[in-house]
Amino acid sequence: MRPRPFVVLLAAAAVAAGCSSADPSPETADTTAAPMTTTAPAAPTTAAAATTTTTTTTSTTTVPPSALTGIGDQAGLGDSLYPDLGNGGYDVAHYTLELTFDPATDVLTGIATIDAAATIELDVFNLDFIGFEILDLTVDEQPADFSRAGRELTIEPSMPIPAGEAFTARIEYTGTPAPIPSRALSFQVGWRTATDGTSYVVSEPDGAASWFPANDHPLDKATFTFRVTVPTPLLAVANGVLTDTITDIGATTRVYEMDQPMPTYLTTVVIGDLDVVDDPAGSAAAGVPIRNVLPPVVATDLPPALGEQGDMVAFLESVYGPYPFDLYGIAVVPEFPAALENSTLSIFGDGFVSSPLFEFVLVHELAHQWFGDHITPADWGDIWLNEGFATYAEWLWLEHTEGPAALDQITAGTREQLALAALPPPGIPPPDDLFNASVYRWGGLTLHALRLEIGDDAFFTTLRTYVARYGGSTARTEDFIAVAEEIAGRPVDDVFDAWLYGETIPEL
Ligand code: TRP
Ligand code: ZN
Repeated sequence: MRPRPFVVLLAAAAVAAGCSSADPSPETADTTAAPMTTTAPAAPTTAAAATTTTTTTTSTTTVPPSALTGIGDQAGLGDSLYPDLGNGGYDVAHYTLELTFDPATDVLTGIATIDAAATIELDVFNLDFIGFEILDLTVDEQPADFSRAGRELTIEPSMPIPAGEAFTARIEYTGTPAPIPSRALSFQVGWRTATDGTSYVVSEPDGAASWFPANDHPLDKATFTFRVTVPTPLLAVANGVLTDTITDIGATTRVYEMDQPMPTYLTTVVIGDLDVVDDPAGSAAAGVPIRNVLPPVVATDLPPALGEQGDMVAFLESVYGPYPFDLYGIAVVPEFPAALENSTLSIFGDGFVSSPLFEFVLVHELAHQWFGDHITPADWGDIWLNEGFATYAEWLWLEHTEGPAALDQITAGTREQLALAALPPPGIPPPDDLFNASVYRWGGLTLHALRLEIGDDAFFTTLRTYVARYGGSTARTEDFIAVAEEIAGRPVDDVFDAWLYGETIPEL
């Protein structure tokens, strides 16, 4: 019998990294029980206000009202766990990141061009950005003043930007990228460089600010263009589809387009002595290209489970509906004791490749492409919508490959273990330990409890309806519950109250 998927990716990661949980900072400790920020900024200014503000900028466009209107304030989007993540007052449509990185010097030089729309009149606005020297900063091609404090970059355009108007911020910067402490995890997130010189980005939840100026909260999803220049013959890969390769003397620029909206925490680039390995059989099974980004020693001795990704895509499509993006694959990197579901390119530490659990971690990260990447939690307090769903996907794969008895065994065994552990329920994750075992396993069991309550037909229709309705956007726990009640045709909030918020784990 194969090993059973009860690994908790991050608990395992923290142990492997020799980390212990950091003390909560006063900042995060105080916000544990804080309700969502209700001090919304002023409603969008009137047409009169907009017309009295003249700007000298080139072609401003009025854009439709954003879903972000009225949410948060200048320095944060009012997340229930991390109120200062992201920034209110505007909505990013597209980031263009032009990055030049040289592993020999460790210097990253970037130009971030951010196309956004103001949701209120903006005298100033903020981005999240840590480190680097800012070489040049303009808004609509006019130089803008700026100041920096912690992760907040505050920009003062030369003219206020009227509510509803599009604007473009361009920030040129240089420096040595480094990982940053996370409030949610016991290891550092963002741009990491291994001792062999491979660099890669793993940002969930708060690390994107370590490599580009970002509205770093999942509520503000945007499309991305990455133009990454590295010395030849190194490889650089980012999220999305490779659309151009430009070779110059000694350097190669690759352009990647991510056309579907992506949260900043899933943006990534991987740079190193790596091979792109196409998987034609897997691509045929999946109906989208599958390519993996592998160190040469892995590429020449492919782990068998890697060849199952195409079948995994086909299976998960049969459960959830179409795979949401244009391609898929994993990147394998050294010295990284975890795996992360970056959109179209999940990142795996090389330790997983030889693990008997590799197959289940592959399913887990793939399932996140639907749950997390396509449907993104509107609030970090809803993290079980990612991890509980991805864990349940592992169990569905087990049921698919080994039969219903295997599913009964894993769910009953997991419930027994959790009953003995002192964990918070999945709907109340601690801010300093967001990826605790409960959001994975107790979260996964919450879905199983729903399935037992409403039956297979209603359960799987609920999953597909939820994906179809919220795919491409963000969702909250209430949204999922509402879909389940709609499909079941009766209230099921008792199930969720008990499973997501109860102090002790219910019986299955
Ligand atoms: N979402 C990851 C998973 O699949 C866990 C995770 C969260 C993570 N933040 C991370 C992994 C940062 C690596 C780095 O379970
Ligand atoms: Zn996960």
